Order: sequence, then structure tokens, then C-alpha cells
Amino acid sequence: MSKNQFQFSYELLPHWNHLSESDQTLVHQALEAMEKAYAPYSKFKVGASVLLATGQVICGSNQENIAFPSGLCAERVALNYVGANFPGLVIDTLCIVAKGELMPNEQLLSPCGGCRQVMLESENRQDTPIRVILVNQDQRTMIVHRVKDLLPFGFGK
Ligand code: THU
Repeated sequence: MSKNQFQFSYELLPHWNHLSESDQTLVHQALEAMEKAYAPYSKFKVGASVLLATGQVICGSNQENIAFPSGLCAERVALNYVGANFPGLVIDTLCIVAKGELMPNEQLLSPCGGCRQVMLESENRQDTPIRVILVNQDQRTMIVHRVKDLLPFGFGK
């Protein structure tokens, strides 16, 4: 038997205004997308912006349904749009923002397990890691360097 450990490094910033200008633009776009969320049931609005290596940015927001499982998370709306409309294009960064009383303000925003699996599939489709920027409701911001770090032992290659 061998004892093993999983470790990963990430950055934590007190506010997203400490990000680079281009990353701040991505946050702005995610915030705009968040306002377009359709979340009448959870009242928890999530916005996602995806920066492609070409410079294009694709956004998504959570879209709920009265039949709850039929709704979809913001990350999956955005990533599936990228897969459907820009197959083969490399994803550089995924930025996620959210607001709502479902989560305490100081709770670090973190994508759900299902979205991590979808994020991992996107990462595994390309040769380079996808950077993930998570903006908290209290504005604290976490930068994770690759999706794999968020889903150790995830199902996939
Ligand atoms: N949600 C997301 O959009 N992304 C996540 O990673 C977690 C949860 C949405 C789903 C639902 O519309 C609402 O947030 C409350 O769970």
C-alpha cells in the first residue's frame, strides 16, 4: 500500500479588480451574463464567460425549468454552446460569477460536480489547460490553473 496525496495551487485575490485588465473584462462579461439568468425557482443567478484562444468570448447563464432537473447551469450553457458552435477552438479561460441568497456571501463560489465533469471534458478535448476564475459574492476571487485540479480522479482520460 502507498500513501498518496493530491495537491494543487491556486491564487486568491481580495477583489477581482486585482486581476489583469483582460481578466477583468471577462468578469464584466460574466456579470452581464449573470443578469440574463432565468432563475425564478432558486433565485440564484450564475453567469459564465468563456474566453477562446481566438479572443472571442462566449457567455452563458443558468436557465431553470419548472421541472427542476430540466434546467441547466451557466457553465454548461456556455461550454455546450462553444462545443456546438466552435468545435475545435481552444478554450483559454472560464470565468464564473454568481449572486443570490442560496449561498452565504463569504462562501467561495465553486462549480457543481456535474459542471466540473463537463469542464473536464472540454479540457480533455484540447492540449492546453483551461484556467478557471471564480468570483465570489464578497468579490474575493480564486484562480485555478486547470480544470483537472477541481476534479481529481474525474472520469475521463
Ligand atoms: N448553478 C449554476 O449555474 N452553476 C453551478 O455550478 C451551480 C449551480 C445554478 C443551477 C441552479 O439554476 C442554481 O444555480 C441553483 O442551484
